[in-house]
Amino acid sequence: MQGLFWFTVLTDCSDLRRTRKLRNLINNSGLIMSDASYRDAIFSTPLDKVARFSFDEQVVACFPDMIRRSVPGYGQILGMLSLIAQRHLRHGAHVYDLGCSLGASGLALAGAMPADAFRYTGVDLSPAMVGKARQTFLEECPDHAMRVEEADIRTLKYAPSGMIILNFTLQFLPPADRDALLARLYAALEPGGVLILSEKTVDADERDNAWRVERYHDFKRANGYSDLEISQKRTALENVLVPDTLEALHERLKQAGFPRSMTWFQYLNFASLIAFKP
Ligand SMILES: C[S@@+](CC[C@H](N)C(=O)[O-])C[C@H]1O[C@@H](n2cnc3c(N)ncnc32)[C@H](O)[C@@H]1O
Repeated sequence: MQGLFWFTVLTDCSDLRRTRKLRNLINNSGLIMSDASYRDAIFSTPLDKVARFSFDEQVVACFPDMIRRSVPGYGQILGMLSLIAQRHLRHGAHVYDLGCSLGASGLALAGAMPADAFRYTGVDLSPAMVGKARQTFLEECPDHAMRVEEADIRTLKYAPSGMIILNFTLQFLPPADRDALLARLYAALEPGGVLILSEKTVDADERDNAWRVERYHDFKRANGYSDLEISQKRTALENVLVPDTLEALHERLKQAGFPRSMTWFQYLNFASLIAFKP
């Protein structure tokens, strides 16, 4: 069934090579599908001192494998982004992908929509991510209007947009900076525009939270990560990735001005929300 879904989504791609790359990037089964040379092994050996996690060259080199094996539902979210865009974007509208990393969301949109359907701007603070994303768009969808800016999404001057994507990015901002950013994004959205907010979440209920975290670690083990890797990555992400509860995310969206938001996807402690600007 999932295969059929992907066949339907991917047959819109004119270029077979792009289709293969997109399929490789989007692994909706959640299982491993990576070239061994780009396998994430960053935390596989014992480290005397685990450094704070950062999106540097080392992470960029194995990022597609890392995110596929670490984020439950990542591929399904990417696949749905293009379907949501096709429903909500007016022809030729502008799309922001904030914290775009290697541009996976942009590639998903370009794989499903014709070149004149939208204009895309990916933004990321990591020069290594930005360089690789630019190169990918040039190679994979040269006819689409795909820009990538190296900038801090907290200080960027936003252009009017029909869709803004925050796919696992808000969680990396200091919590105190999150509301101000969301308010600026609400202002940048055109009437009828949508914001997609995907995040790792935490449960207010301790028992529920423990269950989700334990099953998440099972998910990671099933995807080939050792207990050492899971524990060292957890240490590296401490105070770098600070998750909100789902309720807090909806409240933030409300405070930013969105009268309506809903959780459209949830898989363990990962969720994706959509917020509508009237
Ligand atoms: C988990 S990754 C996002 C994954 C990506 N959206 C995707 O779907 O593949 C988080 C990204 O946010 C970027 N980032 C973190 N803080 C940022 C900021 N203040 N401004 C711009 N980018 C930022 C990081 O460099 C990193 O590439």
